[in-house]
Amino acid sequence: MTVAVRRRGGLPEAVPSTPAPMLEVVDMHVRFDAVHAVRGVSFSVTQGESFGIVGESGSGKSTVLRAVAGLNSGWSGAIRIAGDAVGPRRERGFYKRVQMVFQDPYGSLHPRHTVDRVLAEPLAIHGLGDAEARIERVLRDVGLGPAFRFRYPHQLSGGQRQRVAVARALILEPSLLLLDEPTSALDVSVQAEILNLLTRLRAEHGLTFVLVTHNLAVVAHMCERLAVMNQGRIVEELTVEQLRAAEPREPYTRQLLRASLGYDREAARNLETFD
Ligand SMILES: Nc1ncnc2c1ncn2[C@@H]1O[C@H](COP(=O)(O)OP(=O)(O)O)[C@@H](O)[C@H]1O
Ligand SMILES: [Mg+2]
Repeated sequence: MTVAVRRRGGLPEAVPSTPAPMLEVVDMHVRFDAVHAVRGVSFSVTQGESFGIVGESGSGKSTVLRAVAGLNSGWSGAIRIAGDAVGPRRERGFYKRVQMVFQDPYGSLHPRHTVDRVLAEPLAIHGLGDAEARIERVLRDVGLGPAFRFRYPHQLSGGQRQRVAVARALILEPSLLLLDEPTSALDVSVQAEILNLLTRLRAEHGLTFVLVTHNLAVVAHMCERLAVMNQGRIVEELTVEQLRAAEPREPYTRQLLRASLGYDREAARNLETFD
């Protein structure tokens, strides 16, 4: 009798309504003519989480991210953002929820557009007012003062350009940020600075990250969980604790870990002072 009463009392708590994950990718395939670049990739990222995708060059990491971002329409499978399925073509509203930052801050900014124009454009496209205030606020957010507003890309350092690229991604106040090797093109000394910035922005804005990198040290500092890709497939999913404890199950991940620690020793040293 007592047991039955307790059970009944416990029921509402036992079935909490869990929010849909911020991002779900289910059985994604991407083909480029003869190349089957992504072969049945599935993963799920919780709201507020930072999820890493690692793997060597050519393993399909960018292709997965670009398909999620709507930059490649030739995929099959399912992509859901906060529970809503998205198709090959994205509606305008999608870009208020999902934005991407690319590896190359040189290539991703138009050489003849000022920072102001880069930041004003998405606001105009989405019909958002208050451009002045929004631009100043986002520049402050990424650690660039108002003096940077009317500069051209060639008047900025690599790190400053990447800050502008981050500002452009944030100006529509998205929930999900897709980061494709966001520091790989930068000097080692600047990499930790940008990673610190991203960590702070995630905390301040409650962002969800999917971070693609070939560098396991970066993932260890930025993410809670990661997937390891090899030849278009996810071969292992693990927590960063498991990665730090050098506990990957798959020989492929262990090999990647050794290579990453060997080649990126300088980067790893820089990241040790990172908080
Ligand atoms: N636009 C494209 N056209 C043809 N092949 C592509 C294209 N983009 C990527 N690929 C191929 O898909 C595979 C995965 O590439 P990619 O996703 O860029 O790998 P990663 O980001 O892990 O280095 C590679 O074999 C690459 O050559
Ligand atoms: Mg890539």
